[in-house]
Amino acid sequence: MAEIAAGAVPSPNIWNSPQVYEIENRAVDPDGLLEAALRRIRPWAGATVLDLGCGTGFHLPMFAREAARVIGVEPHSALAAAAARRVRDLANVAVRVGAAQAIPLPDASVDVVHARWAYFFGPGCEPGLAELRRVIRRGGAAMIIDNDATRSTFGGWFRRWLPRYDPAAVEAFWARQGFSREPVLIRWAFGSREDLAEVLRIEFPAELAEAFLAEHDGCEVDYAVNIWWRRY
Ligand SMILES: C[S@@+](CC[C@H](N)C(=O)[O-])C[C@H]1O[C@@H](n2cnc3c(N)ncnc32)[C@H](O)[C@@H]1O
Repeated sequence: MAEIAAGAVPSPNIWNSPQVYEIENRAVDPDGLLEAALRRIRPWAGATVLDLGCGTGFHLPMFAREAARVIGVEPHSALAAAAARRVRDLANVAVRVGAAQAIPLPDASVDVVHARWAYFFGPGCEPGLAELRRVIRRGGAAMIIDNDATRSTFGGWFRRWLPRYDPAAVEAFWARQGFSREPVLIRWAFGSREDLAEVLRIEFPAELAEAFLAEHDGCEVDYAVNIWWRRY
């Protein structure tokens, strides 16, 4: 049985279906727009990078190519083990079990924190933000990727699923915390309709997933995201 660190936000998509989430990760942003935007905000060559809520470690190799050191932190022990297997040949990467509210790293020990669709979803994540202030060195930065529900096909689906989701309140929250918004319009590009269907079924309730599939042609979905970021 996997152990799950205290404070983890239930993430049924990747907790229950890591293989399908891998298909999703491979379909995200084939144009590399997100990576380019992250790089513009805070390049990581020679830096120590923390990928917080790293799941199965999909993004660790990207950072490891240029960073001096990369640490993946993940509360779900089985996913952390999968991440460790993924990077076992990369000498500059380590994976730890832990959560954003109690990051298992010393004070002032990292330069760049990346958190992608993990824990930092707006109001309620203040304990994790306090931990970011503790672990990020002066001159470092945090970059948090989440959905932009105000536009794009995916954003529309997200709001149909969560009609009470309030993007203006989320934006106001991040502004109060000193974060800026970098909007990026990416796309999902799947190899087949079946892959798109499998991913929709882990991301949305069954009825909605089938409705979206019936309404949407092809294997691509335009998908707006926000990078919330700040320097320390
Ligand atoms: C949707 S997955 C994204 C995983 C990974 N960032 C990626 O892009 O492949 C969300 C992840 O956040 C993790 N998570 C949930 N609560 C967390 C917390 N309190 N601190 C850190 N990570 C958390 C989950 O265990 C899960 O692996």
